[in-house]
Amino acid sequence: STAIVRIVSELRSIVAAWRREGLRIAVVPTMGALHEGHLSLVRAALAKADRVIVTLFVNPRQFNNAADLAAYPRTEHDDAAKLATVGAHILYAPNAADMYPQGFATTVSVGGVSEGLCGTFRPGHFDGVATVVTKLLLQTGADLAFFGEKDFQQLQVVRQLVRDLDIPIEIIAGPTVREADGLAMSSRNARLSLAERNRAPRLAEILVQTARRLSSGESVQRALSLGRDAILAVGFSKVEYLELRADSDLAPLHTLDRPARLLVAAWLGQTRLIDNFQVPLP
Ligand code: PAJ
Repeated sequence: STAIVRIVSELRSIVAAWRREGLRIAVVPTMGALHEGHLSLVRAALAKADRVIVTLFVNPRQFNNAADLAAYPRTEHDDAAKLATVGAHILYAPNAADMYPQGFATTVSVGGVSEGLCGTFRPGHFDGVATVVTKLLLQTGADLAFFGEKDFQQLQVVRQLVRDLDIPIEIIAGPTVREADGLAMSSRNARLSLAERNRAPRLAEILVQTARRLSSGESVQRALSLGRDAILAVGFSKVEYLELRADSDLAPLHTLDRPARLLVAAWLGQTRLIDNFQVPLP
């Protein structure tokens, strides 16, 4: 079974004992409401490490909207059961008052990769992510940390902060896990009405179609403009962004001259969905 730990000193003594045995330790940071996307990261971690810590913390500092924070699902009991089935060793679920005690005054703010895309539409979000991920990586002292490509900009932000702050950990990315109809798994999918849920997979379809157009030589400007129109035409209410960026560092691309990634954020009713696909070179 998976032990639940809430206190960082307890976590550190367990990790220290593992270290004395020479074990390799992995961490998978999450906000809970675990689905197959999270569990695929846990399985990848178990394949590469001797011990796996899954963190569960709904981080208030990364929500730029109080209603979104309040609506975030909290299902720790079910999450712990899923982790026991998969074989994770520890569920580290700290309290907010311990993570951010009175007088907490430090923010980790990553430049460059956190600007644009979600950074434009969710002010402060990546500062909140960078601050909590820094804390979780330092608290666990793991050798490896696993993040999903589903949140591709977040993955780049984490790589940047680990490099810049010399945190001794290897970041490993896992591919986006999708529903059978192509919709990227997300805890926010549960907020979709039945009609919205039926439309939602069109987003991934349009991304794939746009990536194909780009790879077959269509201009970036025209392919993105057709893509935006298509997303609105299938019933999304707003496209926050649809952009082509360099796969390695998210630099804006005007022509497909490097391995690239197509990234989107769009609203379906009251739900904001994000997704991304790699774009093969022509
Ligand atoms: P959360 O949204 O719970 O996601 C936890 C991890 O699971 C992230 O690395 C995310 O990219 C990955 N993930 C989510 N859906 C996925 C999918 N469909 N396929 C593959 N991986 C998926 O991301 C966060 O939490 C937080 O920002 C966190 C990093 C924990 C910091 O608070």
